[in-house]
Amino acid sequence: MTSGQLALLCLLGLTFTLKGVTSQARCSVPEWPSGIDGENPLQLHAGKVLLVALMQGYCRYCWIQAHNLERLRDHLHNRGFSDVEMILINGGGALSRINNETYAQYTNLTVYQDTANNTLFNLFGGEKDDFIIYDRCGQRVARLTRRFSYLGHTYTERALRAIHRGFSWCSCSLDPQTSRTRRSANNWMVPLANN
Ligand SMILES: *[C@@H]1O[C@H](CO)[C@@H](O)[C@H](O)[C@H]1NC(C)=O
Ligand SMILES: *[C@@H]1O[C@H](CO)[C@@H](O)[C@H](O)[C@H]1NC(C)=O
Ligand SMILES: *[C@@H]1O[C@H](CO)[C@@H](O)[C@H](O)[C@H]1NC(C)=O
Repeated sequence: MTSGQLALLCLLGLTFTLKGVTSQARCSVPEWPSGIDGENPLQLHAGKVLLVALMQGYCRYCWIQAHNLERLRDHLHNRGFSDVEMILINGGGALSRINNETYAQYTNLTVYQDTANNTLFNLFGGEKDDFIIYDRCGQRVARLTRRFSYLGHTYTERALRAIHRGFSWCSCSLDPQTSRTRRSANNWMVPLANN
């Protein structure tokens, strides 16, 4: 078994035990709501693995995570995982909103501003500190909650590497061909979680 498979099996086992309040169906493709500023990031980054980080602008922990996310992206790009992108969603509450410029001191990653009624947090289906990962076809593949998204751990990097290689529960024709058979083998080895 490769380290990628191990990583994914490990993640599956972990996420399986976590219940998300707004969990969404695995492999679903979110539809960008009208009236939100900015282009649909899933279309903008189509063909890439996309990590969506749900954050709050008042939170120092979030700023550091935002900084370390960009470092992780650079690290992955330098190691050949070039089509991995990341975006940040700033929460829609007043405290987050007034701190929306703070991110720029910590990261160059694009920040999307959520609405007061949390349109984007609901769209991506997660809570503060969660990372939601989409595959090259824009399908929701994984959700890492705070316990696993903390970048002092390696779960996020391992998940991105595995998904980049095509280890996934979702079928995407843009994934590397070589992983097809191994992926289908994975399907019966692991329970399917709905987050
Ligand atoms: C922060 O919010 C203000 C006011 O809503 C807006 O004008 C500005 O473009 C926002 N900045 C960022 C980086 O999103
Ligand atoms: C943004 O990118 C530039 C050029 O790569 C880098 O020098 C700078 O440190 C980055 N800014 C932040 C806040 O990470
Ligand atoms: C939330 O706010 C946005 C604009 O700020 C609006 O387009 C949308 O309809 C609202 N959604 C709900 C469920 O109220």
